[in-house]
This record gives sequence, structure tokens and C-alpha cells, in this order.
Amino acid sequence: MRLDKFLSHATELTRTLAKQAIRQQRVRINNQIARSAAQIILDTDLITLDAEKLVLPENRYIMLHKPAGYVCTRDDAHHASVFSLVSDSDELHVAGRLDADTTGLVLLTSNGQWSHRVTSPRHKCNKVYCVTLAQALSREQAAQIEQGVILHGENRPTLPAQLQGISDTQLRLTLHEGKYHQVKRMFAATGNEVIRLHRESIGHVILDNNLQPGEWRNLTAAEYEAF
Ligand code: URA
Repeated sequence: MRLDKFLSHATELTRTLAKQAIRQQRVRINNQIARSAAQIILDTDLITLDAEKLVLPENRYIMLHKPAGYVCTRDDAHHASVFSLVSDSDELHVAGRLDADTTGLVLLTSNGQWSHRVTSPRHKCNKVYCVTLAQALSREQAAQIEQGVILHGENRPTLPAQLQGISDTQLRLTLHEGKYHQVKRMFAATGNEVIRLHRESIGHVILDNNLQPGEWRNLTAAEYEAF
């Protein structure tokens, strides 16, 4: 495995920051300062960053800044897949999909139990979205969203949700469940329409604003252990 790839798998550094750490001479291989991001390392090599020994974790836990136009599945003939953005993604799956046109935080992992905790309704993991609407949100629509609305094709209302206004047509929405196309269906049920949707956080994990659309990094242990 290349050294920069190893660093981005074993730490929360992106590939770019891993290369920077190598240039800054913070990385050593068997006690020698590493010179090249492209250097191939072996299982037996001792790699340190700032004198701390690095090991590859058993499972992978990743946050991705999903760009628009990508799907969260592997088998869509018409769209690129988020899995193409992450290196060595064969063993990964998505913990909570976003629609192709939605941007923002996507979590990927190789640990099925962990993704179950993130997505299962029983764990009531908050999800925060920045929502842009086609029309200004009326007070009545806001009250409906906050109290719960009946989605098309369902008979029980959505759980109460929290709204925070940003402007007439933009708001921050906190949900405690994750039904299929939930945000768009909730606003459609009130007679409005979502024209842009961006996920900012899942539980306590907030999309890192150093990540540009399409970039990813590993979660820190504190981030993945708290689920
Ligand atoms: N709700 C939606 O409608 N779409 C998403 O992508 C996520 C939540």
C-alpha cells in the first residue's frame, strides 16, 4: 500500500493532508523520515506520525462530503456512485442514504452493527438538514412540519421535528427518524417543494467543513465510538 493511502486509512487525515504531513517530515518509516507519499510500505514496517505508532483499524468508518449527482448505491446505470469517491470501497456500505441530488454528510463503514445503530429508528439518531424551498415557508406549514405530517402513502404522522429559520425559503431541519425521501415528502405534504437539500450532521458527527464536495476522511475514534 502507498504511504499516503496508509495514512488516510489509519488516521483522520485526508489524502491531501497525509501528503502534507509527509512533506512536513512528521511521518517516519522504521524510524527514518519518510520522503515520498508514493513509497510502498509493507505489513512489517513501523509507521509513526508525530512519533505515534499507527495501525490500520479493524473496521473503517468514513465521512464523505457527497456532491450532487452521485448515488449511494453501486448499481445505478445513470449516475456515478459515492463508492467511486472512496479508495478501497469494496467492503464499505452506506449508513443512511441520500438522494442523488442531495449533498452533504454520508457515513460509510465496513461494520454492519455500527451502521445498524446509526440508522435504526430505535436509536433515534438526529439528522440535521439545510433545506431550500421553492416558496417561503408559511407559519402553518412550519407548524405542520414541527408537529408531524402524514406522508403520501402512509397512515402515521412523522415524528415531531425542529425547524430553525435561516431566511424565508431556507431553514435548518432536525429529524429523529429517516424514512424514504422523508424531507422532500414532508414539505410536499404541506404544499411546498424542496429545491436543495444538504445534510449537515448525523448524531454528533458534523460534516467537516475542510472537506470539499467529493472528499472524505476517516472518523476519529471519538466520532465513531459515540454511536
Ligand atoms: N430526505 C430526502 O428527501 N432526501 C434525502 O436525500 C434525505 C432525506
